[in-house]
Amino acid sequence: MRAIVVDNPGRDYRLLQEQVPTPRPGPGQVLIEVAAAGVNRADLLQARGGYPPPAGASALLGLECSGTVAELGSAVADWQVGDQVAALLPGGGYARYAVADSVCLFPVYGVPLGDAGAAPESACTVWSNLLEAGYRPGASVLAHGGAGGIGTMAITLGSALGSPVVATAGSPRRAQACEALGAVRGVDYRGEDFVAAVHEATDGRGADVILDVVGGPYLARNLAALAEGGTLVVIGLMGGARAEVDLAAMLRRRQRLIATNLRGRSLDAKARIVREVLRDVWPLITSGAAAPVIGARFQMHDADQAHAALKAGDVVGKILLTWD
Ligand SMILES: NC(=O)c1ccc[n+]([C@@H]2O[C@H](COP(=O)([O-])OP(=O)(O)OC[C@H]3O[C@@H](n4cnc5c(N)ncnc54)[C@H](OP(=O)(O)O)[C@@H]3O)[C@@H](O)[C@H]2O)c1
Repeated sequence: MRAIVVDNPGRDYRLLQEQVPTPRPGPGQVLIEVAAAGVNRADLLQARGGYPPPAGASALLGLECSGTVAELGSAVADWQVGDQVAALLPGGGYARYAVADSVCLFPVYGVPLGDAGAAPESACTVWSNLLEAGYRPGASVLAHGGAGGIGTMAITLGSALGSPVVATAGSPRRAQACEALGAVRGVDYRGEDFVAAVHEATDGRGADVILDVVGGPYLARNLAALAEGGTLVVIGLMGGARAEVDLAAMLRRRQRLIATNLRGRSLDAKARIVREVLRDVWPLITSGAAAPVIGARFQMHDADQAHAALKAGDVVGKILLTWD
């Protein structure tokens, strides 16, 4: 089959289309003929050699895809050959065929098959972390990286559930894009103070939940922007991993800090997250109330250009790779 492989892994990696063996589905798995694969920041890290796939996963890039079930492994009862699905993958999406665990599939209806590949990773990440943080519909949310793949899902989903979402982004134009997607306030983090913006937007209470992709440099400001009893969830470390924390302030304001990752979780844990997303989020995605925001599409053989676009930071929303 055709697939994208990483040539020269490291800082100067290149993505090339090559012929590789077609994978076979094992017990409880299905083979998907891929229509579209979502591009995630983790793919850049993996191509640089810094984020190896979990044991047993495909070595190819790609944490999510959509397409048509082409073959069933043994012990798969709920899916048929020909079903249109989206899948949360441990790897392997940048290919003509990808193997997915059947418990990590979403039925595609309501949204075009070619768009659905943009949803699994961001929906599962955002929803599992909101639940982990004790989120209830209507609670206030601060989403960092609001114009990115995860951030746009946090805005559309939170807004669809009646939450005021404040979102940060790297320019006034991108902050406006966050507001156009439903954020009550888009904050240009280079020119504005997000702590003040959150307090303004929440009548001084602070955000009930913060989804953070920046990490160390934002820790103190995040805790200042967090409500009493609120939860800060760190899901990315784009700014760095280390910081000092004032535990006394956290204790006084009964705040919680958690850090999570999705890819490394057990299959059982991912299956539970997929069930929760199917129950609570997928209906909003398929109805269009929280449809994935697709900022750019590239042909699969132009995966290099897709990565360059993600690095350049001009795209609002997800980048998709599609087969012609
Ligand atoms: N823990 C997990 O399970 C999990 C799962 C999925 C993703 N992630 C992580 O989540 C992060 C986002 O992933 P993604 O796929 O959404 O990537 P993305 O589309 O590239 O979005 C990342 C966003 O982060 C923003 N950003 C960078 N520095 C920032 C700062 N100092 N303040 C505010 N925003 C800043 C960028 O905003 P501007 O471009 O506007 O500057 C960019 O839009 C990555 O770190 C990824 O590894 C974690």
